Amino acid sequence: MKNILLIGAGTMGTVHAQTYQSIKDANLVGIVDFRKEKANELAKASETQAFYSLEDAVEELEQIDLIDICLPTHLHKEYVQKAADLGVHVCCEKPLALTLEEADEMMNYCDEKGVRLFVGHVVRFFPEYVQAKEKVEQGVIGKPAVVRTSRGGVFPTGWTDWYADFNKSGGLLLDLVIHDFDYLRWCFGEVERVFAKNLSSRRNDRNDYSLVTLRFNNGIIAHVEGTWAHEGFSSKFEFAGTKGIIDYDSSEVSPVRAVKKSPVQQTSGVVVPESPLKATPFYKELSHFIECLEKDQEPIVTPQDGYKAMEIAFAAKKSAETGEPVYLNHNS
Ligand SMILES: NC(=O)c1ccc[n+]([C@@H]2O[C@H](COP(=O)([O-])OP(=O)(O)OC[C@H]3O[C@@H](n4cnc5c(N)ncnc54)[C@H](O)[C@@H]3O)[C@@H](O)[C@H]2O)c1
Repeated sequence: MKNILLIGAGTMGTVHAQTYQSIKDANLVGIVDFRKEKANELAKASETQAFYSLEDAVEELEQIDLIDICLPTHLHKEYVQKAADLGVHVCCEKPLALTLEEADEMMNYCDEKGVRLFVGHVVRFFPEYVQAKEKVEQGVIGKPAVVRTSRGGVFPTGWTDWYADFNKSGGLLLDLVIHDFDYLRWCFGEVERVFAKNLSSRRNDRNDYSLVTLRFNNGIIAHVEGTWAHEGFSSKFEFAGTKGIIDYDSSEVSPVRAVKKSPVQQTSGVVVPESPLKATPFYKELSHFIECLEKDQEPIVTPQDGYKAMEIAFAAKKSAETGEPVYLNHNS
């Protein structure tokens, strides 16, 4: 059983708190948020204690095994280091940091303090994405050649609108498209060359769109689309190989529907939409991190993976700004 302290009671904090409640080996010992009403609200819903600062929580709580950081990205480094100073393992939402230098410092800091650092690249825990990777590895589509991914929807809103300040969020490529950069690198290895176009290098009006072309060391080409200019949210992929294609479009997935039989006097049925997944990707991700702590195992996604995904995002940003392709040098 691991005692978990969660910091940040916003969108992701709420998802993580709900998730820990269903993980057998997780004991959520507290929620920290400096917005008192947010901390109180989420703590109440999660049947745990509210704190308004990390320091207060540490003073009060007897044992913390993992600090889960669901704070805006520009605060990740500060809080990862605070957790490491306490000698407590850390789980940090993606992207790991705002710059590669910060990410590097965070990884080294955790190593020096002897604490584990987990990064929330949750796409590696989405069954559709996992299954596609497995099928590619099994040779179902032959030799993969061209890949397309797409992800996005509306411009995100957070506490004090921090996503709109790209000095805090890193913008679309670092905040959102990084999911696909990480996933594709997991599937196809290192990226050799990046070319990108986007809107934010020309304007910043709460609409953003990026189209990134990646060439992997093994010759595979990926077209990676990200948007903060659409409505709703969807994610898609298409893997084309010498023997076939695998594709997925989240907007076409039908939810599980239970249609109750109407009482005799009524004619219409009641449709109850439910998640088709028994274990959500967040459940799989967070329970995996806890299991890694308990069994001292390497996680599916390492801090170095978080760093490498950032590296691709920064290469894409640079390419979009300069109009030139950017080459990544990898020895591995
Ligand atoms: N894995 C995913 O799919 C996914 C999805 C969305 C966001 N994220 C990432 O999760 C992180 C959090 O994003 P969000 O949308 O939940 O943000 P948010 O704005 O909804 O929530 C952030 C919370 O942190 C609190 N906070 C800020 N500074 C604090 C401090 N110093 N001490 C205590 N509390 C403080 C705020 O009051 C707010 O409640 C970001 O890094 C984001 O990129 C990941």
